[in-house]
Amino acid sequence: MLAIMNALAAELNQVLDGTAAGRLLSDLGRQMYFPRGIVAQTTEANQRAHRFNATVGMAFENGEPIMLSPLAELVSTMTPTEAVAYAPTPGVPELRALWMEQIRRKNPSLGRTRTTLPMVTGGLTNGLFQISELFADAGDALVMPDLFWGNYRLMIEVRRGTQIVEFPLFTRDNRFNVDGLDRAIGRRSKAIVLLNFPNNPTGYTPTLEEADAIEALLVAKAEAGCDLLVVFDDAYFGLFYESGLLEESLFARLAQANDRILAVKIDGATKEDFAWGFRVGFVTLAGRGLSDAQLDALERKLMGSIRATVSNSSRIAQSLLLKALKSSGYDEEKAAKRELLRRRYLTVRKIVSERGDGTLAPLPFNSGYFMAFACRRVSAEELRLALLEEGIGTIAIGEKYLRVAFSTIDEGDLPQLYSAVYDAADRLTQPGTR
Ligand SMILES: Cc1ncc(COP(=O)(O)O)c(C=O)c1O
Repeated sequence: MLAIMNALAAELNQVLDGTAAGRLLSDLGRQMYFPRGIVAQTTEANQRAHRFNATVGMAFENGEPIMLSPLAELVSTMTPTEAVAYAPTPGVPELRALWMEQIRRKNPSLGRTRTTLPMVTGGLTNGLFQISELFADAGDALVMPDLFWGNYRLMIEVRRGTQIVEFPLFTRDNRFNVDGLDRAIGRRSKAIVLLNFPNNPTGYTPTLEEADAIEALLVAKAEAGCDLLVVFDDAYFGLFYESGLLEESLFARLAQANDRILAVKIDGATKEDFAWGFRVGFVTLAGRGLSDAQLDALERKLMGSIRATVSNSSRIAQSLLLKALKSSGYDEEKAAKRELLRRRYLTVRKIVSERGDGTLAPLPFNSGYFMAFACRRVSAEELRLALLEEGIGTIAIGEKYLRVAFSTIDEGDLPQLYSAVYDAADRLTQPGTR
């Protein structure tokens, strides 16, 4: 750790003093600030330098960023600024404002609750990484269900030394395990809770009733004195296939729940808008009782962290996304693609309910891209390898679970795929095959 804290960091810490957000900061988070360097001075000049603006490290010709003609031909509907200029560190302002509007539209219970403006990161991964840097320390507890996207381990446990405290995602009767979450948080005075719905790898989203219970539990923990950073990974947001599910992000509820709760929403274009390689994610923070100045201080820490790592995110991807979001018919087409995925879900649902629970028992699923089988009497890894021999790719999660991304398979091919999976599992459980 640095012996001397930067004066700007100290200023931001002072603004956050006395809040859960201030207490939740990691050592690195306390050190973090957004410098009054090139980026800040360029921003100032962009507004005021009406004669010559010789600030930014780009190259201009006739007042426009230089763009080579092969590129210009490929993106002929874009201005050079939209295509090749740097984006501001926190993202293109119009895109951030529009994403915020969409978050409020898709999560009506957020109402007018004050939040930071969504900040653009290099995909959701980079957003999760930035939040880990700012808030996760060695020795902190990261509470998560036992079925989680493996990259969390690398980002938070390996890089930050934070201890993962798992609890079984499902109860015996296949409901979200609220008691497990309760026990995992225990009586800690600080905890980071990471929830991802629709879940990777299971494709599970809690019912409204379960969501109420999760919210009530987290509020009770805060009331009992636990400072909670609650991170919602909403990568697969919007892909809900059954009724009675929580169709808003829990962020909307936790954003205004208790002074000890700092809620973080990580979402983006990746899965929701079918733009995986764009690398456009967003990070939005909120907490009851945080003033504008305190939210601004958090934004500045986040901007510092982005500046230190990726500096800023892809401009062309942000420009493309912004144009797409504003285009007519975008919402309709997105809804049509969601419907396509829902039909695949219904086909898979029919196949697995006809098969029942045998060697392969489907875990509860109702949303998202995936479903997963619990493998009984067969190793998931052996099953994966057997399927690979037949030219079929699936994901083994340890020895116990096999994840199938039905989002990648056309509806008409699903029966064949699933027959192959069940048949391979049956073959592996027959005597003499192992
Ligand atoms: C739960 C979850 N969060 C985040 C991501 C990563 O998103 P991005 O590609 O935008 O970094 C994934 C990708 O598989 C995911 O499954």
